[in-house]
Amino acid sequence: MIPALIDLKRAGDDGLAAQLTSQLRSLIATGRLGKGIALPSSRSLASDLGVSRNTVTYAFEQLAAEGYLAASHGRRPVVMVDGGERIEAAGVVASRGRSAKPQLSPWASRIKQTDWPMSYQAPLKPLRPGHGDFREFPNEIWARCLRRRAVRAARRELGSVNRTRLREALAHYLATSRGVRATADQILILPSAQAALTLIAAVLVSPGDDVWVEDPGYPGAAAAFRASGARVMGIRLDEQGMQRMPGPAAPKLIFMTPSHQHPTGRLMSLARRTEFLGMSRPGKTWIVEDDYDGEFHYDSRPVPALQGIDAHGRVFYVGTFSKAMTSDIRLGYLVVPPALVDTLEIAQRHIGLIASSHIQEALAEFIADGHFLAHLRRMRRLYHVRRDHLVEGLGRHLGEVLSVEVPSGGIQLVARLKRGRADQAAVRRLVAAGVETRALSSLALGQPRDHGLLLGFAAWRESEISAAVRTMASCF
Ligand SMILES: Cc1ncc(COP(=O)(O)O)c(C=O)c1O
Repeated sequence: MIPALIDLKRAGDDGLAAQLTSQLRSLIATGRLGKGIALPSSRSLASDLGVSRNTVTYAFEQLAAEGYLAASHGRRPVVMVDGGERIEAAGVVASRGRSAKPQLSPWASRIKQTDWPMSYQAPLKPLRPGHGDFREFPNEIWARCLRRRAVRAARRELGSVNRTRLREALAHYLATSRGVRATADQILILPSAQAALTLIAAVLVSPGDDVWVEDPGYPGAAAAFRASGARVMGIRLDEQGMQRMPGPAAPKLIFMTPSHQHPTGRLMSLARRTEFLGMSRPGKTWIVEDDYDGEFHYDSRPVPALQGIDAHGRVFYVGTFSKAMTSDIRLGYLVVPPALVDTLEIAQRHIGLIASSHIQEALAEFIADGHFLAHLRRMRRLYHVRRDHLVEGLGRHLGEVLSVEVPSGGIQLVARLKRGRADQAAVRRLVAAGVETRALSSLALGQPRDHGLLLGFAAWRESEISAAVRTMASCF
């Protein structure tokens, strides 16, 4: 986040160190970098900004001397003052009526310490990962479903909304296409998959609980569990997916994406799935299976969900319509282990994570009339071709620089840097040239071990992919 807020002019009168010092100072003074926030290390900020480490060290030391930062050797500097307070240093913006310091809850303080959600610039540019092609969504058909629901709602009695139709349709779809075993009662409809993670964290995670997540992994999951005070531990991957941690202590919860690991796209082997199921215990260790893009598989029949082979009710299954339909639809779902259905339902209403009934009913109709499966079939064919097109283009134009890990499904792929570790600098160069990607190192929990680019292929036409690959080749 911080590199995006800094804009250094290479040809200005002020030196880079002076510019950086002044910009960081005003970010703190205006409250955009709040008290307690840890800045990146000098090494990583220098690499992100493309300046020398001495430049960043100078800025940190200067701001520490002025009392804005606490910096000690080997640790990331931490912001020491609240921007709402008037700061009496030269050149600092005065408070904008924010002099009273808000007393945040531990939860809010924790979410302010993560750099998630990340911000992208609008509009979407090739090859931003994480999206399907919304231009291909059958908007006319969807509009008809929405309209029919709205007209019917206007005619009927208040409170006579059908709240089970979508859950029944989903129970059937998940059983036949993903091997999930659940009754409609076990399914909660939520505004997003992220809402499902927040709900699970609120219900199960206490401060200090251990939670394991994949490393590299989906940052939204680590953020949701950290917000509840969990000790989030990143578990490395091997060819079979997330590894088992040696050591005796079982965690409270394990979050995983076994169908297409986010971000690598790897499939967790059956042996590894069985191992994880063997270590989880009802009431002790819960598994959260996030099947965010399980609808898209290209090379072989999809492996059924982990939830379907769990005989003891220990697995939560999370899904979203953000990838399969459009991210604006704001609908996700959570299949809850039987023992927790009542609690999760109360918690859902308590927090108010309720999705619009009209949209739920329209979606139930969209599924029942066969439009959802037809759309998925069409997108699967389209995305398969696009994946192959991107893999072929990267191999042809960037084979010396990038090594591609071809995923058997999903909507994005990882291309590792063959030499060097400067993936964040590469991402900045590419964005400036009009190609959006995500640095693999930014998805690491601790010290990044993997350096590469996360490239989306599903959302982009072949001509757009070709143009982006040519641009990439000219940047490297
Ligand atoms: C692995 C994973 N899980 C969950 C989500 C979030 O889905 P939603 O938009 O429904 O919150 C994403 C979004 O990119 C994701 O990559």
